[in-house]
Amino acid sequence: MRKPIIAGNWKMYKTPKESLEFVRQLRDKLKDMKDREIVVCPTALSAAAVVETLRFSNIQVGCQDAHWENEGAYTGNISPAMFKESGVHYVILGHSERRQFDNDTDARINAKLKNVLRNSLKAIVCVGETLSEREAGKTENVVETQVNGCFEGIGLGDLAEIVVAYEPVWAIGTGKTATPEQANEVHAFIRGLIAKRFNDDAAANLRIQYGGSVKPENIKQLMAQADIDGALVGGASLKIDSFTAIVQF
Ligand code: 13P
Repeated sequence: MRKPIIAGNWKMYKTPKESLEFVRQLRDKLKDMKDREIVVCPTALSAAAVVETLRFSNIQVGCQDAHWENEGAYTGNISPAMFKESGVHYVILGHSERRQFDNDTDARINAKLKNVLRNSLKAIVCVGETLSEREAGKTENVVETQVNGCFEGIGLGDLAEIVVAYEPVWAIGTGKTATPEQANEVHAFIRGLIAKRFNDDAAANLRIQYGGSVKPENIKQLMAQADIDGALVGGASLKIDSFTAIVQF
């Protein structure tokens, strides 16, 4: 069965000091949660220290992006090889904020994904439509294009290292959550795309997280849906109480 995976995407929040204080508390509060995967994704600057602090805990660490090369003249970037050496486990790729502000295209995300896998890291690949795309009835089209672009050339054997996050852009940071049914519909559609591209077994094993205004108040209903296997949490992952409550759904 698919093990639930709850990840906190801290975006550009929390200084290194704040990050360490936070994970020290989190580590103690969540130490008994064994039946789900827990991931925190601090800024790259704090990742190595957060890894150290969480070393003997049940909480894994992710970063929010990684380059398609392992080294080179790419000012301001960090490679998967560097994250790997620092003990990071997961890399978020293709978040809508990076698609919007940092030129992440499907082709680029695909190149980054391949390099993440080459470095034996796991990936959380984000897809999702904007409000205007949803209103124009293009949700499935958009998501299909993103999934096909991001998964181009990815082999069946790599699928176990990949989690997909469905994050409707209109639900991110807006307080507007997709209803559990709306979310599940797209999750089922994504699973179908994976079945077509790979096979039914691979699709049945793929974990698909929902992201977009996930809170303690809505996590239970979301997780009760057949095709929702976890959450990628933004704002509510920044507070101990709300993130703890979400993980303990
Ligand atoms: P919010 O939970 O703040 O809506 O953000 C979701 C998100 O973008 C997680 O990656």
